Amino acid sequence: MLKDLFIGLSQNELLNTAAKKYGLKLGAQSVVAGTNLEQAIQSIKELNAHGIACTVDNLGEFVFKKEEATEAKEQILEVIEAIHQNQVDAHISLKPSQLGLDIEYAFCLENVREIVDRASRYDFFVNMDMEDTKRLQPSFDILEELSKEYDNVGTVIQAYFFRAEEDIKKYKNYRLRIVKGAYKEPAELAYQEKSEIDSNYINLIEWHLLNGKFTSIATHDHKVINHVKEFVRANNIPKEKFEFQMLYGFRKDLQLKLASEGYNFCTYVPFGQDWYGYFMRRLAERPQNLNLVAKQVFNK
Ligand code: FDA
Repeated sequence: MLKDLFIGLSQNELLNTAAKKYGLKLGAQSVVAGTNLEQAIQSIKELNAHGIACTVDNLGEFVFKKEEATEAKEQILEVIEAIHQNQVDAHISLKPSQLGLDIEYAFCLENVREIVDRASRYDFFVNMDMEDTKRLQPSFDILEELSKEYDNVGTVIQAYFFRAEEDIKKYKNYRLRIVKGAYKEPAELAYQEKSEIDSNYINLIEWHLLNGKFTSIATHDHKVINHVKEFVRANNIPKEKFEFQMLYGFRKDLQLKLASEGYNFCTYVPFGQDWYGYFMRRLAERPQNLNLVAKQVFNK
């Protein structure tokens, strides 16, 4: 299956490393907002001008050396300073594996703490993206640990996991992004059928809208978005309690439409040299995204 092929490619360490040297290729530039911070800030300004907030991901994964994780932390601290200096409407998304989760839990916790602490000085939010199953519980543990000191940190619930319902109840008082889930997970742990994932996704969103703190509904699925619009109207859920999120470069017209309708909207803005794994996961989700590659190849 194409999905398995692209997930496999996304996890290929050699290709991830090689891609860093060659800049954005294969059409990745349509969905990655540049390789450096200046380009990312420019993209954020353009989105802000349309009333769209941003969550910024300084791309990185496959970090197995402490020096690399420390470098990733320093880069994210620079992003925080740039957001503050440019006074743009943006916050941070980060991946625990980028900050050393696969090396040592305590080391990663301290790296994330430093980032959350810096962001808290400027009063903006840090989201810990959720990765695959082996990083799930340690990421929740980091969240719980940091929330003893800070209230500007939250995470993601992936609807394909059977445990998602329990997790959303446990973490309801955090700002949560709810997604369908982007990794390949085993049948013992996660729904495999799209219809089951979609249905659990709707249940989780509805539950969190009614019971949770703040809900980020992160999807490109117009059926889900239309359902949520109806649900919030029927249940008198104020617009301040939720936002829609989409990835940079996807369904741009729909992003602008939702923002112009007065919904809180936030675009996930990935940038940096480590674009390869992120891009392969987008191809795995939606083989039509191969159009991005085809356009690039034939435009040469
Ligand atoms: P899905 O791919 O299921 O598509 C449903 C339908 O929507 C399609 O059949 C089509 O009709 C329509 N559609 C979708 N994309 C379209 C397009 N580009 N153009 C036109 N129509 C389209 N995952 C994770 O595991 N951890 C995380 O931390 C995050 N974070 C995250 C942040 C944000 C902002 C987003 C949007 C997504 C994530 N994800 C994620 C990824 C997420 O789990 C999921 O893999 C993708 O969003 C794909 O699922 P969708 O819900 O978008 O629709």
